[in-house]
Amino acid sequence: MFQKLAVAAGLMAALIACAPKKETGSQEWKKQSFGKTASGEEVELYTLANSRGMEAGVITYGAIVTSLKVPDAKGGIVDVALGFDTLEGYILGPDPYFGAIVGRYGNRIAKGRFSLGGVEYKLAVNNGANALHGGLRGFDKQVWKAKPAGQSLELTYVSKDGEEGYPGTLTATVAYTVTEQNELRIEYSALTDKETVLNLTNHTYFNLAGQGEGDILGHIVTINADRFTPVDAGLIPTGELRSVERTAFDFRQPIAIGERVNAAEEQIKLGKGYDHNYVLNGAGGGLAVAATVTEPKSGRTLQVSTTEPGVQFYTGNFLDGTLKGKGGKVYQQRYGFCLETQHFPDSPNRPEFPSAALKPGARFQSTTVFKFSATPGS
Ligand code: GLA
Repeated sequence: MFQKLAVAAGLMAALIACAPKKETGSQEWKKQSFGKTASGEEVELYTLANSRGMEAGVITYGAIVTSLKVPDAKGGIVDVALGFDTLEGYILGPDPYFGAIVGRYGNRIAKGRFSLGGVEYKLAVNNGANALHGGLRGFDKQVWKAKPAGQSLELTYVSKDGEEGYPGTLTATVAYTVTEQNELRIEYSALTDKETVLNLTNHTYFNLAGQGEGDILGHIVTINADRFTPVDAGLIPTGELRSVERTAFDFRQPIAIGERVNAAEEQIKLGKGYDHNYVLNGAGGGLAVAATVTEPKSGRTLQVSTTEPGVQFYTGNFLDGTLKGKGGKVYQQRYGFCLETQHFPDSPNRPEFPSAALKPGARFQSTTVFKFSATPGS
């Protein structure tokens, strides 16, 4: 009898030890297969969750955020990130960079050229005459190594010296954490063995009404920036830091995207809407609020904080209904917006911009937080 009890107690203890932890702040991550790349590399889908119902899906291909399920004011949970149900969706073009980590250099480098330490480097050119988002096979098209822990996932990619034309072997690490405050926290870090340039960002397209649920024109946006970087016809910054005052780019007070997205202004025409880098106020002082976006009907709000000096506000101008996303949703123009925290585009050719160079021995570190909340809407 005593023996039987002891066995039962032992079994119970073993069962308890195996059960997922339930206390607040210690939900377990989950992992499942997400298929294989054409070259046979296995891709995994990790799900990170908090105890309040928020969930982020992240795949090892491109360190892509495939879903962001966030609670709303009425107790529902809605996926607010555009994406695909399958790996093929992410691999087949045209590439919108849904949810991806973009690197080695996010956004454009003019003519795919820059000089560093007296050497001229030539990059893979993939956007007219320019290099965009790391080139033909950027960080968004590589399989990252994953290390999960609790509500976090650390992903590492080693980019070889000369890859896509960039100098130096760069070891990049991105840690995603779903916090108990309903945040997706992204911590970037990188080391190089030779001086290089880098600009890492996350390219999630948000629709706070739910992915695929119409356009984002009614979303109300505030951006903490007095200036932006106007562009030329190839979307390369001209070098000017222009005041947003009396332009369609003034988001210092909350205003709906749709109010001025088609304004008769040269910069809006060049971008086919908003596709511009904002010079964040008070950059360099640590993590600061860059932008806030609210969707009036659901009352759902996204607050973006970053340690980066800029943010690319992009209103999904190149989406045109050819991409079929999650749940069969068709993504039309302006069905999502991006707030890509970053160094300014073309910084390697603009010594007057904050430097995007990294030297051996120095560690690049950067943090961006996407925080979700909800107040009852109208
Ligand atoms: C960034 C660029 C845009 C476009 C998208 C991806 O936001 O600035 O011009 O290339 O990525 O479609």
